[in-house]
Amino acid sequence: MARADLIRRLFESYQGRDDEAFRSVASEIIEEERKKQHPVLANELKRILVNGNRSMSSVRSETHSFEAVPTDGERKTPLLSVRTPDRYLDDLILAPDLRRSLDRIVEEFCDWDVLEANGLWPTRRILFCGPSGCGKTASAEALSSELGLPLLYVRFDSVVSSLLGETAANLRKVFDYASRGQWVIFFDEFDAIGRSRDDATEHGEIKRVVNSFLQLLDGFGGRSLIIAATNFAQVLDPAIWRRFDDVLRFDLPDTESLRSLLKLRLRQLQTRDSQVAEIASSLIGATFADAERVTLDIRKSCAMRGRTSVQSSDVSTAIERYRYRRNVLVRESPQQGRPSVDQD
Ligand SMILES: Nc1ncnc2c1ncn2[C@@H]1O[C@H](COP(=O)(O)OP(=O)(O)O)[C@@H](O)[C@H]1O
Ligand SMILES: [Mg+2]
Repeated sequence: MARADLIRRLFESYQGRDDEAFRSVASEIIEEERKKQHPVLANELKRILVNGNRSMSSVRSETHSFEAVPTDGERKTPLLSVRTPDRYLDDLILAPDLRRSLDRIVEEFCDWDVLEANGLWPTRRILFCGPSGCGKTASAEALSSELGLPLLYVRFDSVVSSLLGETAANLRKVFDYASRGQWVIFFDEFDAIGRSRDDATEHGEIKRVVNSFLQLLDGFGGRSLIIAATNFAQVLDPAIWRRFDDVLRFDLPDTESLRSLLKLRLRQLQTRDSQVAEIASSLIGATFADAERVTLDIRKSCAMRGRTSVQSSDVSTAIERYRYRRNVLVRESPQQGRPSVDQD
């Protein structure tokens, strides 16, 4: 709760119709909440102050008014989709440094005008890297919710065309569409085009595509947050790395993070700490997505048996099913190293 004197000044500024004083006190309240380690409330207040009360539900009700999305010239398939996610950063388990970086991105984005007035730019081009199933897509969705902006989801394999020249044209269509609105623009599976331009095995077309992507990125003036995600950051061209203001890494969870995720996803059920510890230790080396799937298995078992408390048979069945899936995947893709049961 904000300090009494701040609340009084807020009311006084409202009565005096003093917009400047109101904003200044409101900003002090936001800062106070941030200092009290309430980043979610602070971000929410900031968003309301900057954007008006633009919640995801109001964005959702506007989705019907979005322009028709661009399609591939040859295949006529959509090049992107507009999404209005309903998950927030607090729904995710994020390493403290990573969470701080994401909060800072939200903060800077909300302070766009202040920064611009001082000749500065917020962080607005970010690269997410790390193994699949560790929260890259989920964090892009959460940023979209935190900022109250729709998510423009672009999957690179739908943009890359077999026809010469078509891929660059597709990219141009995506950027043109994006420039006519304000979004969180998420380029998923970015490595599909971002592979190193020095890679001799790559076709010349890819090099041209990378160049046009970089040009479009440089020339993009929209007031949007651009995120690209890759599982294989090491194959990216160094020229691409330089184009991003920030690079964030999403790592495999440690045991503590696994435990936190299990507790979060099983919170509607009664579980014993020893059960959580047993599941976490059997998931060492697994992704967040793997762990989430185990919790879904347990929740389904309990739902089907009409129980609200987890029994050891639910735990052992879910762990067995996880091991089975992992072994199938090891056999199916021996060349891929560490197996993941994540299918995304
Ligand atoms: N850090 C995390 N915290 C909580 N849930 C996670 C996390 N990472 C992944 N998940 C869960 O696993 C699913 C797949 O993760 P995703 O974000 O698609 O991974 P990536 O994009 O890195 O491949 C998500 O929908 C989410 O529910
Ligand atoms: Mg993903």
